Amino acid sequence: MKREVVATIRLDALRHNLRVVRRHCPRSRVIAMVKANAYGHGLLPVSRALGDADALGVAEIDEAMALRAGGVVKPLVLIEGVCSAQELRLAAEHGFAVVVHQREQLDMLRRTSLPRPVDAWLKLETGMHRLGLSEAVADAAVGELKGRVHALGVMTHFACADEVANPMNRAQLERLAQFARRHHLPGSAANSAAIVAAPASHLDTVRPGIMLYGGSPLAGKAAFEFDLQPVMTIAARVIAVNDVPQGESVGYGATWHAPRDSRVGVIGIGYGDGYPRHAMPGTPVRIGTELVPLIGRVSMDMITVDLTAHPQVGVGDEAVLWGEDLSADVVARHASTISYELFCRLTSRVRFDYQH
Ligand SMILES: Cc1ncc(COP(=O)(O)O)c(C=O)c1O
Repeated sequence: MKREVVATIRLDALRHNLRVVRRHCPRSRVIAMVKANAYGHGLLPVSRALGDADALGVAEIDEAMALRAGGVVKPLVLIEGVCSAQELRLAAEHGFAVVVHQREQLDMLRRTSLPRPVDAWLKLETGMHRLGLSEAVADAAVGELKGRVHALGVMTHFACADEVANPMNRAQLERLAQFARRHHLPGSAANSAAIVAAPASHLDTVRPGIMLYGGSPLAGKAAFEFDLQPVMTIAARVIAVNDVPQGESVGYGATWHAPRDSRVGVIGIGYGDGYPRHAMPGTPVRIGTELVPLIGRVSMDMITVDLTAHPQVGVGDEAVLWGEDLSADVVARHASTISYELFCRLTSRVRFDYQH
């Protein structure tokens, strides 16, 4: 047996989840978000498997260049736009659409001579106050950009899309839709949560991320309720099983004491692999069909679980940390985080195994 953490990536589940997106918004174009190494799932294999998406969304020009170098010819959208004239020229050369969210980027578009016009999305500030042009600046920019870029659209991003009843959603959508109507531009607003919960927000183009990877798009709802399948399953091995007498402690800080004579399993995964250090005692780990509780603190290379009620579990058994039959959303909740972060924080120690 080798100490190894394996991420099994089911590309059929990814394609299934894209079909779920299409079912929700059959008339919208789909920019599949593959930024941040495809939410930790692997930029190239994931992008190659998303042949049915209309375009792919990345955060950095390096991600876009890596996709082109890997033979991906699909339209790409630089979701934060470019940072320099040089990046803008690369975008034009390789056919990357750029998001324009600040005056400096408008200036770059004015001043930079390009081999061919780019596609551009104006990003409109509608309430999130992160990235976006004010309505006045965007209004003034439209006429000029229409003559300068190849195709122009307008997008925004919801601050609270996963809270279905939050009034900000409607207000943000209304601002975007009015702007799009006024300037006869295609619009884009919906992330995963809005795709499943707000049909009025679908507009011309949707931008699913987490739902493609099988994470739940809505707080308080499970992914399977949307027919989404987990794409990533993380597995490690039980590397030791110890008898711990009642009252003795386990792990750093001696934070857990055996309430009775206990059998404690040690699993070869820790925060050095990307398991969240703040996972609380009781966080479920799946061994076979059983869910066993995490105990004590998470170490760099190991976690400990209480196996007292599971005498059949032994050294060498596989433990699933999240994925198939143990939702990443559930594990994330036990670590006060979100599935997005679990996916993105896996380290280079993890071996990826792609199933086509
Ligand atoms: C601009 C933009 N659109 C879409 C998405 C996809 O969001 P989600 O993963 O919640 O579907 C993101 C992700 O953060 C984003 O930044």
